Amino acid sequence: MCGIVGYVGPQQAEGVVIEGLRRMEYRGYDSAGVALVHDGEIAWDKRAGKLANLDKSLGDQPLPKATTGLGHTRWATHGAPNDVNAHPHLGATGRVALVHNGIIENFAPLRAELERAGHELRSETDTEIAAHLVEAAVTEGHSLTEAMRQVCRRLDGAFTLVAIDAHDPDRVVAARRNSPLVVGVGEGENFVASDVAAFIEHTRDALELGQDQVVTITREGVEVVDFDGNPAEGKPYHVDWDLSAAEKGGYDWFMRKEIHEQPNAIADSMLGRHDEQGALQLDELRISEDELRGVDKIIIVGCGTAFYAGLVAKYAIEHWTRIPCEVELSHEFRYRDPILTRDTLVVAISQSGETADTLMAIRHAREQRAKVLAICNTNGSTIPRESDAVIYTHAGPEIGVASTKGFMTQLVACYLLGLYLAQVRGTRWGDEIAAVVRELEQMPGHVQSLLDRGDEVLALAENLADARSVLFLGRHAGFPVALEGALKLKELAYIHAEGFAAGELKHGPIALVEKDVPVFCIVPPQGRDFLHDKMVSGIQEVRARGARTIVLAEEGDDDVAPYADVMVRLPKVPTLLQPMVAVVPLQLFACELATRMGHDVDQPRNLAKSVTVE
Ligand code: M6R
Repeated sequence: MCGIVGYVGPQQAEGVVIEGLRRMEYRGYDSAGVALVHDGEIAWDKRAGKLANLDKSLGDQPLPKATTGLGHTRWATHGAPNDVNAHPHLGATGRVALVHNGIIENFAPLRAELERAGHELRSETDTEIAAHLVEAAVTEGHSLTEAMRQVCRRLDGAFTLVAIDAHDPDRVVAARRNSPLVVGVGEGENFVASDVAAFIEHTRDALELGQDQVVTITREGVEVVDFDGNPAEGKPYHVDWDLSAAEKGGYDWFMRKEIHEQPNAIADSMLGRHDEQGALQLDELRISEDELRGVDKIIIVGCGTAFYAGLVAKYAIEHWTRIPCEVELSHEFRYRDPILTRDTLVVAISQSGETADTLMAIRHAREQRAKVLAICNTNGSTIPRESDAVIYTHAGPEIGVASTKGFMTQLVACYLLGLYLAQVRGTRWGDEIAAVVRELEQMPGHVQSLLDRGDEVLALAENLADARSVLFLGRHAGFPVALEGALKLKELAYIHAEGFAAGELKHGPIALVEKDVPVFCIVPPQGRDFLHDKMVSGIQEVRARGARTIVLAEEGDDDVAPYADVMVRLPKVPTLLQPMVAVVPLQLFACELATRMGHDVDQPRNLAKSVTVE
């Protein structure tokens, strides 16, 4: 939520900052702004709406040349998305410019205090108070670093702040608490940003910052202190993907590119995680085998798509390990006072590793002495850093707001975790585990075969272009897939879409079915005969009431054909792994329909990729 970037070095800062914002626009696109230090003054521009509006404004009225600057792309929390509330915000005299990601919870008393002291605040944001406070401190003679540190100690909530001072032209200062911030370390130039994508074009060397730290970047170096002024150190790491991964590579949407990257992403997520005999090796796990043998309950937490990956994981983990497994929305978890002990393993699933709800859930779990394992796609992010163990998903950067390869690789990581637990605890034979690993190794090919038949889904989107409501039915591991299919359609096509467990239909939802309502039906493999037959009954029930059925069933399943208006054939795979293939046509369908409707697929309205506020 919100992308922020700061730069100091020999290049024209405006270009570096705007390019950085372009690569982070997925984090928020309600407004964008830039500020530069030029000739002892701050030069700035900011515009409501997408970055293109700022681009146009800068084209009409260019800012002066400068080599130090910062920028912001906003997902609005406090105050409407208009020009005034856009960041950067300036202090009372315009000497300091500041951008912010997060929420300053005690902004009301601080605002009142500033107003009593005669400050005139122009916006409705919580951010502007920080700009005034930092500027007041530098005006008193403190360095920008010292001013930032003092102000941060007075703030409650979640924030990343970046500031520049017109009187200190070669320095950018940033701070973080509960909100993402990484440093890009270049040669004679340095960067701060919410995400490495902002500076990947210039350097792949990054520094991970800890909680409550202030970082000062100059051309010469990087200095980190904590909020009390004690020297601290960032943790260096090398980004293992390059600029091409952060670009569309000829696709119209990042989402479409990311859907098509799934075969590779699955293969990368499997790489090095089993030996030739199929025995699992999760070297990076950092929880001992003894501790894993002692686990008596698993609770999986996540939000949105990550939560649905957790629902799939429950079926697999309980089946393979017999460990009771609960799945919970991160934001509900800590408020119900869950029962956690030293033997509870909390698995936090998050593509970004920055989702505030999930972060707060793991903090609660660790306070209660539970062990926390993160499944995450983003190196250097907060959730893995604050967890006892991590399985990285190696999907490469996911930029489309709708998660696709993120979900796919979360499934892979969940299956690997389940199989590893089964191996360590001896609840499955080695050959059984190896057989599932072999099936997982086939997945890139299966997913590719579905992508090669993408035209079928295109035709489907054309036929269903007028639908105002779409339902999704599944059973067992197909139920979370139904939920995921509906979520993709809601967030991209903005139409009513709901996923149901097929067995639940007759308990109410079937009342929604009327003539011609499209219903996607995810049919379990025929090998699960009892499940399969029940699903076929469900399809008949909706068809009898006039629904148009789009049936996703495995190759060779002819029993369902008579009840399908449209058949989408899935590769033959085991029931527990079927979500990996069943989700692909649903991702493509949402992407095609939203494209047809003229929506911005990568930046759907009201959303942001990384939800860093609770
Ligand atoms: O980064 P995370 O995996 O923690 O994000 C969780 C959800 O916000 C995310 O999956 C969201 O639901 C997606 N936009 C769905 O496509």
